[in-house]
Order: sequence, then C-alpha cells, then structure tokens
Amino acid sequence: MGDSKFTKTIACIGAGYVGGPTMAMIALKCPQYKVVVVDINAERIDAWNSEKLPIYEPGLYETVAQARGRNLFFSTDVEQAIFESEIIFVSVNTPTKTFGQGAGKAADLQYWEKTARNIVKIAKTDKIIVEKSTLPVRTAQAMDRILNANDNGVHFEVLSNPEFLAEGTAIADLEKPDRVLVGSQTTELGLKARDELVQVYANWVDKERILTTNVWSAELSKLVANAFLAQRISSINSISALCEKTEADVTEVSRAIGMDTRIGSRFLNSSVGFGGSCFKKDILNLVYIADSYGLHEVARYWEGVVNMNEYQKCRFVDNMIKVMFNTVADKRIALFGFAFKADTGDTRESPSIDVARQLIEEHAGVVITDPQAIENAKTDLADCLGSVEFARDPYEAAKGAHAIAIMTEWDEYRKLDYEKIISQMERPAFLFDGRNILDHKKLFELGFNVFPLGQPSLKHYE
Ligand code: UDX
Ligand code: UDX
Repeated sequence: MGDSKFTKTIACIGAGYVGGPTMAMIALKCPQYKVVVVDINAERIDAWNSEKLPIYEPGLYETVAQARGRNLFFSTDVEQAIFESEIIFVSVNTPTKTFGQGAGKAADLQYWEKTARNIVKIAKTDKIIVEKSTLPVRTAQAMDRILNANDNGVHFEVLSNPEFLAEGTAIADLEKPDRVLVGSQTTELGLKARDELVQVYANWVDKERILTTNVWSAELSKLVANAFLAQRISSINSISALCEKTEADVTEVSRAIGMDTRIGSRFLNSSVGFGGSCFKKDILNLVYIADSYGLHEVARYWEGVVNMNEYQKCRFVDNMIKVMFNTVADKRIALFGFAFKADTGDTRESPSIDVARQLIEEHAGVVITDPQAIENAKTDLADCLGSVEFARDPYEAAKGAHAIAIMTEWDEYRKLDYEKIISQMERPAFLFDGRNILDHKKLFELGFNVFPLGQPSLKHYE
C-alpha cells in the first residue's frame, strides 16, 4: 500500500481551483502522507509541475513549492492514484447542466459518476471516497450505490467534505478555516471513515473547528452557505437601486446595518453583481432541488437572489448608456478589471462578461484591462474579438476613452494617477464605479463625472 516511507496515501481526482490548493495544503501540513493529485487534463498537470501554476492564488506557489516532489505529486495517471490510495478526494467539476432535464439549473453529475465507475473498476482495496465537489443533497446515496454495486469484495465509504475556500484567499482559508465540515453515514464504517478524515485535518486545524454531521446535512450546508452569502449581496444591491432614487448612500446604509452584530458587516458591499463559479450554480441547484421536491415557494424565494443579480448588471449598463447621452456607439469605454473579484485571474461568471457584451452590442469600443485575467477574458469574449481591445496597462486602456468603468476591486485601481488618466481622455469624462472603491469627490475635482453605485452622482453639468 503506497510508498513505505509514508503512513497514508491520499489521492485527489480533479486538479482545479479546489483540488489543487486543498491538496497542496494537506501535503504541506502532513509530510507523513503521500498526496497525489491527478487530472485528465495533461496541460493542467504540466502547469502544476512547472514554475507557472495553472491558477493564480496568493501564497499558492510557495505552498506547492515546499511540498512538491517531497510528498506532493501531480500526475495524469488516474489509475495508479486510485490503486495506491486509502482516501480519494473527488474534486471534478460539477457545472450546471446545459442539456436535457434540469438544463440551466441542475448540476451535471456525469464527471462525478464516470469517476466513481472508474474507481470501482480499478480499486482492489477498501477506500474512503470524499466528495469535495459541491454536489446536490443526496448525491452520496447515488454514489454509494454505484460504488458498492461490485462483486469484488471492496467496500467504499462515501463522505461529504465540502470546501468553503474563497478564491484569492484560498491559502489563508485552507490554513485557518472557519470550520471543516465532515458528513458521514452513522453506521460503524461511516463513523470510522469520518474519524479517519477528521484525523487528516486535525494535523493543523483545531478540533473544535472540525464539525461532523450526517452526510446529507454536509452536502446541503455547502449549497446553503453559498446561497446565504449571495443573498446578502443581492439584498444590498437591491437597496443600492433604491438609494440612487432617494439620495441615501448605500455605503452608509451598509455600514449602519452591518454594525448590528446580528447582521454583521461582511458581504454587504454593493457591486455590479456577484460572479464566480459557485454562487449562481449552487443557487440554481438549490432551486432545482426545491422544485423537484414540489417546494415551489422555496425555489422561487432563492431564484430571486439570482434574478436580482442579473438586474444589477443590466441596471449598471443601462445607466452608463443613459448618462452618456443615450448612446455609446463608437465611444471608447475602458473596463478596469475582468476577474470576478480581486486577487484572482478567474473570470467565471464575472459580471464583466455581461457588461462587456452588452456594451459591444451597443457598438461601443470596449477596451479591457486586468492585472491577471486578460487571457481568460480573451477566451470569454472569443466570439467578439474584433470588437474589443485588451491592454495590460490601465493608462493605455484609458487613453482616448470616454468612460472608465471599475469592474473589479483590484487594489491597484485605487492607487492610479487619475489626473494623468483624465488628461488623456475625451471630455466629458465619465467614471462608473461598479465597486465603490475610489475617492469620488477627488475624482470629481479632477474633472470626472462620477457615477458610484447607490450613491448620489457627481456631475459637472445639470
Ligand atoms: C469544482 C466544482 O466545479 C465545484 O462545484 C466544486 O466545489 C469543486 O470542484 P473547481 O476546482 O473550481 O471546482 O473546478 P475546475 O477548476 O473546473 O477543476 C475540475 C478539474 O477536474 C479539471 O481540471 C478537470 O480537468 C478535472 N476532471 C474533470 C477530471 O480530472 N476528470 C473528469 O472526469 C472531469
Ligand atoms: C465563494 C464562497 O465565498 C466560498 O466559501 C465558496 O467555497 C465558493 O464561493 P468565491 O466565489 O471565491 O467564494 O468568492 P467570494 O469572495 O465569495 O465572492 C463572490 C462574488 O461576490 C465576487 O464576485 C465578489 O466580488 C462578490 N461580492 C462579495 C460582492 O459583490 N460584495 C461583497 O460584499 C462580497
């Protein structure tokens, strides 16, 4: 079983945003285990083995570099990894279905099921299978049936161990998680497997922060955590629209309510909309599950969170067009930021995608700048490359522009020389702050017409 110098071999199938960093942390904290991360995508594995990792995450490179080759290995040999490990994390993607029943809402579990069938085919010894991907509640039951419908005497115990890391802070979140959730069956084998996984985390996480539940609660809690976080953003975004009509200031409202310890201050920043691979996908999944149990009121309630997010993105573009004298055709508009949030190169479900597309449809000359996400932006907008420009340097992007829209809260956008920027822009110069991160009064004094979110606009004309 595994190499003799290690006490345990852990495999992870799926070397993505979740699998890669999570396993790197386990390997770093547990040098006594061999950790093998496998993926069917050879290019991705090559990148994990190189100096330029496939994803950007502060502190990730340092973490990988310490453990790689020591007890952390990246490979495309899925079979060998399954064969030699006692614990297998499965972190393959579970996108929203694009076809057939539940299209646009339900999770597409085909990669998960194929992975499970592959495990059954190869395994010769009992294994603990850990659901790391976010999955619909009761998936573990289906997996249990597929895995344990074998006649070679091998037993698989399925645990749910959802990952709560956020991108941009993955390493900090993994090192000091608010909690680690381990869901298991309450059978003797289930509890034994649970304790084994708890032991892995206990190498660096306080025991009080390791929460054990039944497997269905663990699966559902992941969807609910994301739904609640997204719901806070949609709630404050709905209020930003009302603020713009009433001269209330959404940042003041958010601060005032956030100081109530029952509400708390986090995830109350109004924005052009939430993005990321999880929020929308997981809420739609929750909606689908609720509908499928006939709980239509529950489904409509959560669907509202996604609808409000779509509304916020449209509202942002509508406002841009309206204030720029009802036309943006042939106007150069610089989008500052394309990543769905700061400190990541990830653009999945980024509000910038929708905003860029809507502006392109209006025949604006869109130019995109971002410190990490230009490559992804090119892929996202592959079908309209003729109508969009990319510039690494924000000063270049803004040159000759009629407007700037702040799309991502990159710290560097706070520090730019806006006096220099406006001197190279068309007049009147517009600035739409989709993240409320800039000093609006100062920008106004420099000559910008400033349109924050949920705050009074500052204009040099009536
Ligand atoms: C994924 C899920 O989308 C998310 O729901 C879950 O919470 C964690 O896993 P992420 O890591 O961001 O999130 O996905 P992604 O970056 O797409 O990585 C998945 C990897 O699995 C890809 O590298 C893909 O090549 C790999 N994969 C997929 C396999 O190795 N085998 C397969 O059969 C399918
Ligand atoms: C989220 C969850 O936080 C994490 O626990 C889960 O494992 C995966 O999904 P992530 O998508 O990486 O993580 O980013 P998060 O920081 O939650 O931000 C999601 C989106 O909400 C971003 O577009 C962000 O800009 C936006 N946001 C966040 C706001 O618009 N306002 C806020 O106050 C906070």
